Amino acid sequence: MKKSLFLLIVFLFNMAFILNAQKENTGKFNQLVIIANNTGPVISKDIYGHFSEHLGSCIYGGIWVGKESSIPNTYGIRNDVLFALREMKIPNLRWPGGCFADTYHWKDGIGPQEKRASIINTHWGGVTEDNSFGTHEFMKLIELLDCDAYICGNVGSGSVKEMADWIEYLTSDSDSPMTRLRKENGREEPWKVKYFGIGNENWGCGGNMTADFYSDVMRQYSTYLRNFSGNRLYRVACGANNYEFEWTETLMREPVNRYMFQGLSLHYYSVPGGWGNKNSATNFTEDDWFETFRLNYEMDRIIKGHAAVMDRHDPRNTKGIVIDEWGNWFEVEPGTNPGFLYQQNTLRDAITAAIHLNIFNHHADRVKVANLAQTVNVLQAVILTKDDKMVLTPTYHVFRMFSVHQEAQLLNTDLRCEDYVMGERAIPAISASASVDKEGKIHISLANLNPSKEITVTCPVIGGTFKNVSGEVLTAPEMNAFNSFEKPEMVQPTVFKGFKYNDGTLSITMPAKSIVVLELKKE
Ligand code: AHR
Repeated sequence: MKKSLFLLIVFLFNMAFILNAQKENTGKFNQLVIIANNTGPVISKDIYGHFSEHLGSCIYGGIWVGKESSIPNTYGIRNDVLFALREMKIPNLRWPGGCFADTYHWKDGIGPQEKRASIINTHWGGVTEDNSFGTHEFMKLIELLDCDAYICGNVGSGSVKEMADWIEYLTSDSDSPMTRLRKENGREEPWKVKYFGIGNENWGCGGNMTADFYSDVMRQYSTYLRNFSGNRLYRVACGANNYEFEWTETLMREPVNRYMFQGLSLHYYSVPGGWGNKNSATNFTEDDWFETFRLNYEMDRIIKGHAAVMDRHDPRNTKGIVIDEWGNWFEVEPGTNPGFLYQQNTLRDAITAAIHLNIFNHHADRVKVANLAQTVNVLQAVILTKDDKMVLTPTYHVFRMFSVHQEAQLLNTDLRCEDYVMGERAIPAISASASVDKEGKIHISLANLNPSKEITVTCPVIGGTFKNVSGEVLTAPEMNAFNSFEKPEMVQPTVFKGFKYNDGTLSITMPAKSIVVLELKKE
C-alpha cells in the first residue's frame, strides 16, 4: 500500500477519533489504527537476544553447574534453564561480557578443566574465576539452545593476535596451529559464530579510550577478524553510551570504517533515582514506577538520535544498531554481594520489557540486534536460580509472549492515546506495536502503564478480515508483584478475554498495569 493512502486512511480515522471524543465528551479516546497490508521492515529475531557475563551467578550457578553437579544438567549446563530459554525462543546470546570481556583471555578457558588458569574477576566482586566455563562450554550452550553466538572480544587488555587466533580457533576448518589445538581439545568441526564484538564499552571499562583513538584501534582489530570456511562475521564496533551522539558521529564519518563493521553497539540502562540513589527492585512508590517508564521511553529518543547520525553517513542503511545492553538497573537485594548485581524482578520490569520491545519493533529498519542485561541472576534477569530451584521472572513471560514478532513484518500503525500523568510529568499510557508473520497472522502487543486505570483501546484493522482472535495477558494485583522461589507463580500470563471484534474493529479493554498480546487469524 502506498504511504499516501496509509496517511489518508489514518487521517480519516483520526477525524472520526476526534469527533467521537467530542461526542462522548471523554476528552481522550484511545485508538490504534492498524493497516494489515501496510508492511514495514522485517523485525530481526535478534532484537529478542540476551546477554550472559561472568558476573555474580549468571554463568556459575545460573547456567553452568558442571557435569558432576546433582542439579540435572547436560554437559554441565542446567537443564531447567536450557529448557526455559528454548521455550522463550532465545535467538542469540552475548558472552563473556560486558566489562569482563576486556579482561578475558580466551586461552585460559580451553583444555582440561583442572589445568585451566584461575584469575581474579576484577570487575565483579573480586572473586576467583576458575575458567571452567570457556569457549567449548559456551559453544555447547549455543548448540543446545539452538541460537546464534554473539562473542565479545578483548580490545582493552588483549591483543590483535589473541583476537585473530580466537576467530581462527572457532571458525576455521583449515589445518593450522589454532585448529589443531581445537581438535586436541575435542572439537573436530569448526563452529559458526554470527556476531563478534570488537571490545565492550571502550569509552569506559574497556580501556577509557577517546572515540578517535578507538576508531583507529577498532580498524586494526577488525582487519584481522577473518571470515573463515564460509562463516560470515557480523562485526560489532563498540558504540555509544546513552545520548553520546558524538561517538557515533566519529565512528560513522570515517570513510574506511565503512568496511570495518556491520553493526554499532549502543548501551542504555534505566536507573531511576540515579547511580547514587538507585531504586529497590521491589520496594518502590508509584512515583518510582512512573519514573522508570519515563526513562524507558527515552530509549526511543536515543535510538532516533543515533539513527539520524547513521542516516547521514549511511543512507543506504547498511549498518545496524546493536543495543547489546539494556534494562532496568536497581539496587542489589539486601544482603547480597554488591558486585554481583542480583535484583528481583516485578511487574514493573515486565512493562519495561514491553515498552522496549515495542520500541525496537518500531525501529526494525535500523535496530538489528538487542540484548537484555542479563539472562540469569543479574540485573533485569529473565530467570532466577537458587541451588536447584529456578523461577521465571515477569520479564521472561514478556519475552515469551512477544516472541511472535520474531522475523515477522512490522505493520505501520498509528497510536493516539491518553497520557499517564504524575504531577507535572506525562508519558503515553499505552505502548503498542503490531506485525504480520509469514502465515499472515497479525500480532498486536500492548502495555497499559497506568497502575490504577483500565483503558479501552479501539483498534480498526483495515485491509484484511479475520475469523479468530485470541490473546494472553500478564498482570498482577500489585505493582511490585514478583515470582519468588516460595511463590513462583505470582505473575503468570493467562488467557485474555477482554476484547471484542466487530466489523473489522477490535476493542481491547486492558486491565490496569497489564501487558496484552493478541493474535488475529484468517481461519
Ligand atoms: O551489565 C553489567 C555491566 O554494565 C557490563 O559489564 C558493562 O558493559 C555495563 O557497564
